Amino acid sequence: MDLGADSFEQRRERNADQVTVALDSLIPPVAGPEQELISAMRYAALGGGKRIRPFFVLECGRLFDINERSLLRVASAVECIHAYSLIHDDLPCMDDDDLRRGQPTVHKAYSEALAVLAGDALQALAFEILSHEDTHASPKVRSALIQKLSTAAGALGMAGGQAIDISVNDGSLEMPLIARMQRMKTGALFQFSAESGAIMASASAEAFAALGGFAHDLGLAYQIADDLLDVEGEESKMGKAVGKDAALGKASFVQTLGPEQARERARILAEQAKGYLDFFGKNASILRQSVDFVIKRTS
Ligand code: IPE
Ligand code: IPE
Ligand code: MG
Ligand code: MG
Ligand code: MG
Repeated sequence: MDLGADSFEQRRERNADQVTVALDSLIPPVAGPEQELISAMRYAALGGGKRIRPFFVLECGRLFDINERSLLRVASAVECIHAYSLIHDDLPCMDDDDLRRGQPTVHKAYSEALAVLAGDALQALAFEILSHEDTHASPKVRSALIQKLSTAAGALGMAGGQAIDISVNDGSLEMPLIARMQRMKTGALFQFSAESGAIMASASAEAFAALGGFAHDLGLAYQIADDLLDVEGEESKMGKAVGKDAALGKASFVQTLGPEQARERARILAEQAKGYLDFFGKNASILRQSVDFVIKRTS
């Protein structure tokens, strides 16, 4: 199927809407003493976002004809981890941000304590979703999904990358360590998203290698684009504050190489990411278009 630019945008929106509907039913509002916590979880998980990680779960999973219900559950689980990471990333003890996805951050809209707890509970929910038999009939596959996502979110993945990020406040990181930090804090969840369908399909080593390479380069390009937008983007489009990274002394390719070289690096990574998709031939046309979206985005 050859999709034009409009079709890509429509598909992206449809995928995002499907994930929002799935999350809405996975985090139902409750009446009772825990209702504030659940309200904060819903606020964080349902209130917008590009849903790019779910996009990769869905579109990479469709390469293997995985059923839509399974894909939507895995996509929702990844988005729960991502939403949790953003809530905690915005806390005063981390990046101290007041605006996220065009709305007050969770600790501003609720409280710091509820923001910590909403993040905790979204993380737990992600694994509850994966462990349920509706996600996949095979316990072995469910266990593999849980293992891969927990590794991607943990000390050697997202949380570890965030720890490296906050350990520096004078921009001083060597390039290899910046690449490692980005791979951990952003790339690891991208890699899980891209590989989850292959895990469910018990795909070949070659398919895993192609998806892993794709996600590695794309995740890095995605974080470089985020760092560039912090310098060059508009708060109104981004829905979050800009100009924070330099103020906080964050280490990034943009800070080390300057915007022009960082942009060139993102472009090269994007081309490399597309190269890995050759393995899937024409079936990967929507994924090829998503690579351009990742580096050309303005929000
Ligand atoms: C922001 O992620 C944090 C990064 C890892 C770059 P997104 O840019 O995917 O944020 P949302 O989900 O669209 O709000
Ligand atoms: C956050 O990176 C990455 C996460 C794992 C949450 P940033 O701190 O650059 O993300 P934004 O710019 O606040 O969205
Ligand atoms: Mg941060
Ligand atoms: Mg931040
Ligand atoms: Mg940023």
